[in-house]
Amino acid sequence: MTLAFAQAVIDWQKQFGRHNLPWQTKLNQAADPYAIWVSEIMLQQTQVTAVIGYFAKFMVRFPTIHALANASQEAVLQSWSGLGYYSRARNLHASAVTIINEFNGAFPRQFDDILSLPGIGRSTAAAISTFAHDMPQPILDGNVKRVFARYFNITGATNTPNVVQTMWQIAERENPTNALDAIIYTQGLMDLGATLCTRSKPRCNDCAMNISCLAYANQSVHLLPTPKPRKKTPKKSTTMLIMLHENKVLLEKRPPNGIWGGLWSLPEIAMHEDATAVALTRFGASAKAEDILTVINHAFTHYKLAIHPQPLQLISKPPQSQHVAIIWLPMNDAINAAIPTPVRKILSLIQHTNQSTHQK
Ligand code: ADE
Repeated sequence: MTLAFAQAVIDWQKQFGRHNLPWQTKLNQAADPYAIWVSEIMLQQTQVTAVIGYFAKFMVRFPTIHALANASQEAVLQSWSGLGYYSRARNLHASAVTIINEFNGAFPRQFDDILSLPGIGRSTAAAISTFAHDMPQPILDGNVKRVFARYFNITGATNTPNVVQTMWQIAERENPTNALDAIIYTQGLMDLGATLCTRSKPRCNDCAMNISCLAYANQSVHLLPTPKPRKKTPKKSTTMLIMLHENKVLLEKRPPNGIWGGLWSLPEIAMHEDATAVALTRFGASAKAEDILTVINHAFTHYKLAIHPQPLQLISKPPQSQHVAIIWLPMNDAINAAIPTPVRKILSLIQHTNQSTHQK
């Protein structure tokens, strides 16, 4: 007689799951829906180890929904800088404003209201409802899909409508109705997927649930979940201009949506364009081009980007610009601004090169 799935997950999580994550509600303490919401957004597509430091700093800087709503988008993006998927930060900020205006400043309790906030899909809404409000709702994220595919031997790519529907049915069927059980079960599913039932090298021998796992019995764990047909990710190239003047660097604000939306970045030109010509026509600056630095490769979900960093020393003080979308910052400030990770890499490289030439 095998244990029912949900009970096995609960037993496993009590013994082997994660219990001291900073956003987890402590025994005898009221749950903080705000902290749980922030953590669930940060944990979308991002591992716990990467999130922990960002979460702690974010909660110090924006301790309440009010504080977040009153902050500038720039401040929120700065706190998110390096975590990636910046639409999450923009949506979090926009949602805080909505919560103040439409929900009296309290994180909504109704499932449909939670779901109506930008950046919150069904699974995230369910995790928040379960953890923050003791109102169990089934989750189904990438980790859970992998656990289900293996344990219940579900074949077919996990983004096809049939498989998604089957899996939501399982999620609904297995989800405990008792709130405390649901909290442990939900955390258990996440922990199992993140720690044992991983995509590559799953640790089935350490898994207490292997006695009733169908893929384990069939020796098909490595075949599940069925891989999605992969399109080759396109490769793109860009040149980034590092315009330097008296140890200040020029940053340009990116358009509000799309890749790195709302972040400060280095001006970009097409590979065939002439860097000094663009510096003159676009920024009114006479500049001398230095050697291009090593290429920085950055992987997005849908394409790979090869960045060619082109330093330009300005020959004279640049004209005062009325352009609100540009800013000249000392190198240290630029590195700490709301910038994307590869731009931070490039600026750090420039800073180190300058420091070592000054030390000579
Ligand atoms: N991934 C998404 N939500 C999570 C949580 N609450 N704990 C651990 N990993 C998660």
